[in-house]
Amino acid sequence: SDGMHRDVEKILITEEEIRMRLDVLAQKVLIDFADEEIVVVILLKGALVFAADMCRRLPVPMTVECLNVASYHGDIKSSGKVEFLDAKLPEVGGKKVLVLDDILDTGLTMRAVIDRLGELGAREVRGCVLLNKLKVRDVECEADYKAFDIEDEFVIGYGLDYRGRFRNLPYVGVMKSEVIE
Ligand code: PRP
Ligand code: MG
Repeated sequence: SDGMHRDVEKILITEEEIRMRLDVLAQKVLIDFADEEIVVVILLKGALVFAADMCRRLPVPMTVECLNVASYHGDIKSSGKVEFLDAKLPEVGGKKVLVLDDILDTGLTMRAVIDRLGELGAREVRGCVLLNKLKVRDVECEADYKAFDIEDEFVIGYGLDYRGRFRNLPYVGVMKSEVIE
């Protein structure tokens, strides 16, 4: 059989579309971040794949930090609470920070992270997401950079999971309904 692909109902964004769009997005980010060393903050685990592809398109001096945050716990709906799971948070005092995440949905995660990095003394924090869900957010939050706008439906692949699976799909897709437990 075709392994994980058989659980995919349809492909929303192909590998090729992601590649082409990230080239353009990186150019936009570079215009704003070319002048000084930056800290890139990757939100685990969803942003892993996106971040690997984005970092390599940003040829500027940077350090990379990871933040382990979670609110969905593998489910299709947000728990409404963002947990910071790291014992030690990155040192961003006085720094210009670019936060990378896979998707902006309710806005809770990005809002909480931007606020926390501000509390840690970051001089400027900007958010960059692969997917921007077109919906009314639960909290006020928009990303400064976004690759794709999508409808409000549950998506998997390219870092996004359902119950921990499907992060390794090379494209963004919609799962077959019978996969939902
Ligand atoms: C998902 C996703 C984003 C966030 C977006 O993370 O990766 O980080 O939720 O949703 P929001 O805008 O409603 O907050 P999740 O908590 O599922 O953890 P994961 O990244 O480890 O999959
Ligand atoms: Mg996440």
